[in-house]
Amino acid sequence: MTEQKKTVFSGVQPTGAMHYGGYLGAFRNWVALQEDDAYDVIYCIVDLHAMTVPYDPHEFSRRRLETAKMVLALGIDADKSLLYMQSQVPQHAELAWILGTLTPTGVLNRMTQYKDKVEKGIPSSLGLYSYPVLMAADILLFHADLVPVGDDQKQHLEMSRDLAARFNNRFAEVFPIPEPLIPETSARVMSLADPTSKMSKSDPNPKNRINLDDTPDVIRKKIKSAVTDSDPVVRYDIETKPGISNLLEIMSATTGRSIESLSDEFGTGGYGRFKEAVAEAIVAELAPVRMKLEDLDDAEVARILQKGALDARTSAERFQQQVRDAVGLGRIE
Ligand code: TYM
Repeated sequence: MTEQKKTVFSGVQPTGAMHYGGYLGAFRNWVALQEDDAYDVIYCIVDLHAMTVPYDPHEFSRRRLETAKMVLALGIDADKSLLYMQSQVPQHAELAWILGTLTPTGVLNRMTQYKDKVEKGIPSSLGLYSYPVLMAADILLFHADLVPVGDDQKQHLEMSRDLAARFNNRFAEVFPIPEPLIPETSARVMSLADPTSKMSKSDPNPKNRINLDDTPDVIRKKIKSAVTDSDPVVRYDIETKPGISNLLEIMSATTGRSIESLSDEFGTGGYGRFKEAVAEAIVAELAPVRMKLEDLDDAEVARILQKGALDARTSAERFQQQVRDAVGLGRIE
């Protein structure tokens, strides 16, 4: 008997250019899982989530397409993965409503990402507040078993697991309990400009991050200007040398070399030499992505998304009918 394939689901918000933090934390795993026969993989551009922060609708429309294009340039292949836009599959919003009725507000009040965003000045809204419920709906809709994400999504994943268990107890055993897949190193890549906060799309300072479509020259400049410290020894010490420690983690995750071997090689050679090596490693890692990006045209991306939405709706509708039946919203005979 052949074992049933496990389902992988993950998402990315089209809120800005995708960056190297997300690449090391999540997207690299997206591609690896696609190549593993043990999994059916589903990746989603979560445009409904992106609407929870202020945005310009014209720019947004372009961003959605660009994000899909970048996901394809990273190596996601529409023949092997299901790729689609969240807003084109209305079952996401329907399931989010149902799960919302099972979510205590006390749990949402403890969500650190919500609190961080409001502290940074993002207007608090019902959408921003219930962001994790929609995320749980994304994951549970297709009965995902495994969710490749960066460390910052841990709490949201925990909530998705709780909601799955809560639903199963209250109504019927419908959902598997999803597991997060978080890498051991580089699960939380820090900002190049302020290594005590995470690399992020929303930081107004573009020097905080390497975008996946940055040119080699821009990558070199950004790494050269990355904030470090005044003791020029390359060694890992998160407390006193957060900038160098971040670069060591990035270099280690990019090349597969251990932090010890990198510290041995670059220890006393000065920061300039080390930074050059980090920049060249990133440039080499992203070279195939840049090439693929140039080859992709918008019409082809749009076609892939249309086909993806059609397939995702068909599959979501089948799953969602089980949910409706379980909660008493089944067909009226
Ligand atoms: P988003 O678009 O903010 O980030 C996409 C992925 O990149 C990871 N990531 C990082 N990893 C390491 N270091 C960093 N500095 C870094 N910054 C971002 C994120 O952890 C994420 O995996 N809430 C999700 C989107 C989402 C989702 C889902 C994910 C909506 N529904 C269902 C999985 C399953 C997010 O904020 O993505």
